[in-house]
Amino acid sequence: MKQLTAEQIQENWNKLIQLIKDTFPEDYPDNRREKLLKMYHHFEDRMTVAPASGKEHYHNAHVGGYVEHVLHVTDLAVQIKEMWELNKATINFTDEELIFAAIHHDLGKVGDLDKDYYVPQDSEWHRKNRGEIFTHNGELSYMTVTDRAIFLLGHFQIPMSENEYIGLRLTDGLYEEANKNYYISWNPDWGLKSNIAYILHQADSMATHIEYDMWKRGDVEEQEAKQEKVESLKKALTVDDEKKPAASDELSQKSKDLFEELFGEKS
Ligand SMILES: [Fe+2]
Repeated sequence: MKQLTAEQIQENWNKLIQLIKDTFPEDYPDNRREKLLKMYHHFEDRMTVAPASGKEHYHNAHVGGYVEHVLHVTDLAVQIKEMWELNKATINFTDEELIFAAIHHDLGKVGDLDKDYYVPQDSEWHRKNRGEIFTHNGELSYMTVTDRAIFLLGHFQIPMSENEYIGLRLTDGLYEEANKNYYISWNPDWGLKSNIAYILHQADSMATHIEYDMWKRGDVEEQEAKQEKVESLKKALTVDDEKKPAASDELSQKSKDLFEELFGEKS
């Protein structure tokens, strides 16, 4: 399982706060900078460690995975927007709007005002067989992640433009049933008036798949490293009969060390 160090978690948090400060300078209208920083200060302790999903085979189901994912999506959204622009797409929204929607599209995953959305999965069976590292907190009222994001932004009186609302509302694309009427309409007047939602959905989708790939590769590497250690342990325990008496003490210590390294406890 992927694990971030305390330094990486802190570094990601600092990046997120700096991104907000850079995107919304001090004189930004509606005091958005102050209101955003107030909200982030409120959630700091929980948001820094929140995962981006509960199941390890989804994406970023590790401590600090939420902030890492949000930074990833924002970075990709800016890159993807440039590609659309380069290919003559109409870009009728600002970078600030794109970044605002990207950093808040999953805000509901942090939970409500004082309770986490994801809590550690206590059931060993679910952890082992279902890869559920975290599970949903049953104490929270049901809301979609997007609805909760909009509720939280409203609670902190953070205004948003129509482009920002449409962008963060539709980031999940057609994976979210409720988005269907926005994306598919037979009435030309009701079609999306901007490409912001398509770009954000592509960024979120790309980030999610890459995060899955990174987890998968890390998992394979972890398994290979473990297998290598098991082979070393087996080798260390196999000694020619004639060498046995002389080597026994040394061997016993060596095997204990390897066992400890492999399983994290004394044999
Ligand atoms: Fe996401």
